[in-house]
Amino acid sequence: MSTAIVAAPKIRQTNMFIGGKWQESRGGKRFPTLNPVNETVIAEIAQGNEADVDAAVKAARAAFETGLWSKMDARDRGRLMNKLADLMEANLEELAALESLDNGKPIRDARAADLPLAIDCLRYYAGWADKLTGDVIPIRGNYFCYTRREPVGVVGQIIPWNFPILMAAWKWGPALASGCTIVMKPAEQTPLTCLRLAELAQEAGFPDGVINVVTGYGETGAAMVRHPGIDKIAFTGHYETAQKIMVDAAKTLKRLTFELGGKSPNIVFADADLDAAVAGAEFGLFFNQGQCCCAGSRLFVEQSIHDEFVSKVVDRAKSRQLGDSLDPNTTQGPQVDADQFNKILSYIDKGKAEGAKCLTGGSRFGNKGFFIEPTIFTEVNDEMSIARDEIFGPVMSILPFKNTDDIIARANNTYYGLAAAVWTRDVQKAHRVAASVRAGTIWVNCYDVFDAAAPFGGFKMSGSGRELGEAALANYTELKTVTMSLG
Ligand code: NAI
Ligand code: MG
Repeated sequence: MSTAIVAAPKIRQTNMFIGGKWQESRGGKRFPTLNPVNETVIAEIAQGNEADVDAAVKAARAAFETGLWSKMDARDRGRLMNKLADLMEANLEELAALESLDNGKPIRDARAADLPLAIDCLRYYAGWADKLTGDVIPIRGNYFCYTRREPVGVVGQIIPWNFPILMAAWKWGPALASGCTIVMKPAEQTPLTCLRLAELAQEAGFPDGVINVVTGYGETGAAMVRHPGIDKIAFTGHYETAQKIMVDAAKTLKRLTFELGGKSPNIVFADADLDAAVAGAEFGLFFNQGQCCCAGSRLFVEQSIHDEFVSKVVDRAKSRQLGDSLDPNTTQGPQVDADQFNKILSYIDKGKAEGAKCLTGGSRFGNKGFFIEPTIFTEVNDEMSIARDEIFGPVMSILPFKNTDDIIARANNTYYGLAAAVWTRDVQKAHRVAASVRAGTIWVNCYDVFDAAAPFGGFKMSGSGRELGEAALANYTELKTVTMSLG
């Protein structure tokens, strides 16, 4: 692969995709999406209002009610999903560059992680399309009782900006395999790749109305949540937004699934392979500029190795290459926007004010774009805001711990429960921590290992329902019980 800076791709679509047509907003408004590397406007995107959402819901409803999608031969549905995955693969370079441009993530990550994982996810769920079976249930009496799994209907999917293509794939995969039709709202910071995916879906041959994309701010999402024609909302983002969605969805009792944030403990015991753990500590927090719901933002290190470990992690943080996202040598890009940038800097200030020690970083990098230096705090206690709140940036807190009992209690001292990791060569210790930490995913001697087949989601305020794997299909299907008298 060439190491030259990648050229910015052409922007093909800035309108919404509704009922198979590219449409301006009925309100006539547009909003800008920026390149976070230099804060310049890339494109002005149609800003969806209530009437646009209504049009998208009507298109999705029509496609659902005709059975165009849900009653299509399941194998043909799977074939179309595979076709979309093939087109994504054929256009991987363009999609990776577009993702990098709009989000600010390093092109090397978009190429090596976001795109391959998204393609794999669609293929995985394409395989499920013809495997949604029911049960035959032996009930009392002379009856034949069986269950069917039917699509939940029209689903509204609201996604964030940290992994735009991947989040679209995680949401489209199980919804399409189940026979649902979709209204998706990408994040206002990163609408470009979702629009391109919709274009590729059309090229693949998806019938009109099966996938619709409306673009806009939170209010566009809120209009989806209120719309009586949407049966279910799947949301990924902040728990405070999820709380608003729950309130707004109460009127129509929509089905809800949430994938929210975290303050994930990454626990390193003294008996671990330390070099592997150091690499895992760096990757677990700094990957994607720290903008990961499962970021290992509380790095717990056993007391006896604390100082040695800290100095190794600091060295690695200092070696990160900050720069233009489209430069293949860059390993850390800018934060996605000014709000995130300011939020992170304010947490860095709070950490300093609360008495934590900033060993490296702690400031803006450069004077253009939303870059923040890889930042590491020690002398952090469990009550400081940097140890409790989701910062969603390149800010690591390192905390020493004494023993297994101590660390299990502290790891669980959070209202989140998305992920955790443990590094040790002791199998019993690994299993004990894995069984005791209240989180949806536990990594042992690894971090951020994702696979379309493995469920992912949160305990506590990190969410409800699971994405990926067979588990996600439950989010998109209703179970129907049929009982027939045998006379
Ligand atoms: P957000 O939760 O406000 O936005 C996520 C999505 O929800 C976007 O598409 C947004 O337009 C939409 N939205 C906003 N308000 C809505 C409403 N009332 N009804 C329906 N949809 C609505 O998150 P934001 O502001 O982008 O980031 C704030 C913080 O959230 C971050 O600093 C981070 O802590 C957390 N976050 C967590 C993510 C995760 O992967 N779990 C992803 C993104 C953000
Ligand atoms: Mg952008």
